[in-house]
Amino acid sequence: MNPLQSYHSYQSLPPLAGVGTFEEAAAEGLGVQECVRRLKRYHYGFQRLWQTALARIASEPIYEIKMGLSHHAHLAAEHIGALRARVAEMRHPPLGLDIVPDAHLQRFFDEILGTSDPFAYLSGLYQHALPALRRGIERHLDETNPLADAPSVRLLKHALTEIDAMLVWGQEASARLREHAPEDTKMAVDVWLGELESWLRAAGDLDGTQERPDTPLPEPRHSAVPFVFDRVPARDERFPDPYNMGVHAEAFLHDERFADRDKVLMMYYRRLREIDVPEMMAPILYEMLQAAGDEERGGHPWLFYQEMTRQLWDEARHAMMGEVGFAKLGIDWPKLVRINFTWSKGLNEQLTPKERHAVLWYIEQGQMGKSGKRYEWEVGRDSEDPFAELIQDYDWADEVLHARIGRDWYVQGFDTVHEAAEYGSACWDKVMSDWHAWKAQGLTEHFNWWPALYQEACRLRGEDPDTTTESFDTSYAETRADLQRIAAGSG
Ligand SMILES: [Fe+2]
Ligand SMILES: [Fe+2]
Ligand SMILES: [Fe+2]
Repeated sequence: MNPLQSYHSYQSLPPLAGVGTFEEAAAEGLGVQECVRRLKRYHYGFQRLWQTALARIASEPIYEIKMGLSHHAHLAAEHIGALRARVAEMRHPPLGLDIVPDAHLQRFFDEILGTSDPFAYLSGLYQHALPALRRGIERHLDETNPLADAPSVRLLKHALTEIDAMLVWGQEASARLREHAPEDTKMAVDVWLGELESWLRAAGDLDGTQERPDTPLPEPRHSAVPFVFDRVPARDERFPDPYNMGVHAEAFLHDERFADRDKVLMMYYRRLREIDVPEMMAPILYEMLQAAGDEERGGHPWLFYQEMTRQLWDEARHAMMGEVGFAKLGIDWPKLVRINFTWSKGLNEQLTPKERHAVLWYIEQGQMGKSGKRYEWEVGRDSEDPFAELIQDYDWADEVLHARIGRDWYVQGFDTVHEAAEYGSACWDKVMSDWHAWKAQGLTEHFNWWPALYQEACRLRGEDPDTTTESFDTSYAETRADLQRIAAGSG
């Protein structure tokens, strides 16, 4: 007879701190070596998801996909951090976390990275890659000893919950894109997805535990030539006038003649315009990572990437908070507001990753004074729009965190804060931002969209527009250059 059957806990209290039954805890399960081997493969899966998202955030035109990728980049980065820490608990350095665990698995992810159509790469990621990661983690949870390997179980259960949430978004998104794809694209993508599955099978599935079939492999389709990273931001058709610098939002915000609830409209615009920060941060991270290869990760420890990706996601959230603000008021922002991309485009095209990081910190630390984030929150509070107060409250808290991240990872490279600021300012000075040239080249008319937005807000409130407010017509053209740069910069 199995002795466990006659063993009982004291007063039948739930045993083993709730981690499992005696049968489960007495099973052999995975040894440390096998556990670490598998954790490194999940780590690789999350790494590739993270890097693929970073590679697409700027150049992907569709706003919802940019936002979804920003979110998933953050979630992946958090799980990468947790897995790295767990492997480090069980093994002495070198941990080998940056070694590609399997050439076929690498090919599988390179194929996804190499596609340019969002329908294809979202299908690859969310119909194949994440489900494979999920299968591996489920097997791990089934096979490992819940008492001996409890710390892994805890982090893998957490990962599973977030993978499921990612799958809901990703599968829904790829299904919607499929509905809009032409027949021949759908057929081509389906053929490719079949090939993708072959690479995965040849790797013994993502976790490398399955039989590897002895069948011929397909020719690489999207990874036959190395991936070329595109750092130039692109936008969808709801951003038809991306060089428009016709409305000086900050001049309006700081003008005492105007009412707080009207200033809220400008704050929603400023929030939505923060879409340009993920567009600018993702290439910093992607390029730094590529610069020195995975092993040195561009000279930064992993935590740098994890914290910067959190910041990237915050900036995406701020953009969506602005979107919600407009939607909540019933304002058709794609029609009435011209969100530009001049900041992310200028920085991405003209500065090195380090210089861009310098500008980002320089602008964000400039928001820490009384006239920055605190002021915006005060406007929200006094506007009688509780939603505006709420989002400014969180925007402020997040930006304080970003200033701290900047101090830890950017300022520490200088002898003094003053030097760091000088360098950030000098980098910002290098970026050519020519209001008049853009107009002369026909890129934009710098149309003043404010009166129509304001009139619509008044119509929705059932009020007559105020003449002074309605006639606000200050663009970024006439502002002193240095102020213009600070004011028009996101962060
Ligand atoms: Fe923000
Ligand atoms: Fe921001
Ligand atoms: Fe920020």
